[in-house]
Amino acid sequence: MDTLLKAVPETGRKARTHGHDGLFITFEGGEGVGKSTQIRLLGDRLKSLGHAVRISREPGGTPGAEAVRHVLLDEAALESFGPALEALLFAAARSDHVEQVIRPALARGETVLVDRFLDSTRVYQGVSGDLDPGFVAALERVAIHGTVPDLTIILDLDPATGLSRAHARRAENIAQDRFEKETVAVHEARRQAFRAIAQAEPDRCRLVDAAGDPETISDAIWAHVAPLVASNGDEAAHS
Ligand code: TYD
Repeated sequence: MDTLLKAVPETGRKARTHGHDGLFITFEGGEGVGKSTQIRLLGDRLKSLGHAVRISREPGGTPGAEAVRHVLLDEAALESFGPALEALLFAAARSDHVEQVIRPALARGETVLVDRFLDSTRVYQGVSGDLDPGFVAALERVAIHGTVPDLTIILDLDPATGLSRAHARRAENIAQDRFEKETVAVHEARRQAFRAIAQAEPDRCRLVDAAGDPETISDAIWAHVAPLVASNGDEAAHS
């Protein structure tokens, strides 16, 4: 993971091409950490304060990327895809999502909340996929096209708890995908990889304990988002 992180270019605040852009916030973490609940709670909070909010997810977010999602998360893909093909497909879906949805929404000044983004590829394909770090970094550059998140919330949770939450979700008729079926050791390696990213990029990333109740976690996330919202509002006022 260290070599992978070194090979990925330093990220920071994205280049702002307009007088004022919206905020781009991504949510990351392992299975069952509660990303979608937290995105919904943050979205509600921002909307109640009058912000235009766009919520999306990866892989997916556009018709083309949703088609790629279907292929990637399908059971049949498990044996037939090598790690390079898998990484290329995630990158293709991301590129479409960035160009069709994320950049236009940011240019309109919307706050964009995305469930998984570049760190999921670094972790899932980088750690488990046995890929050349330079290849992963090159794909990332092409896919995100300079659109680096302003903030990445990494939800941190013991994999055993996360997996049992994911199992409970399946009881509500949501099918288990192939990434959920891997061993606890693999899930633990991913957790450590997410933590390493948070440590390596403290300006962009915040590690949030995802073990508490949803409201407590939501407040912890808001403590990281509020200053950014305030400073973005100041920038808007002066642009
Ligand atoms: P999803 O059903 O959205 O799961 P979750 O609720 O955990 O986000 O499935 C997305 C799966 O795809 C998830 O297991 C992580 C994996 N993934 C990658 O391997 N690489 C990526 O770049 C992305 C975006 C997701």
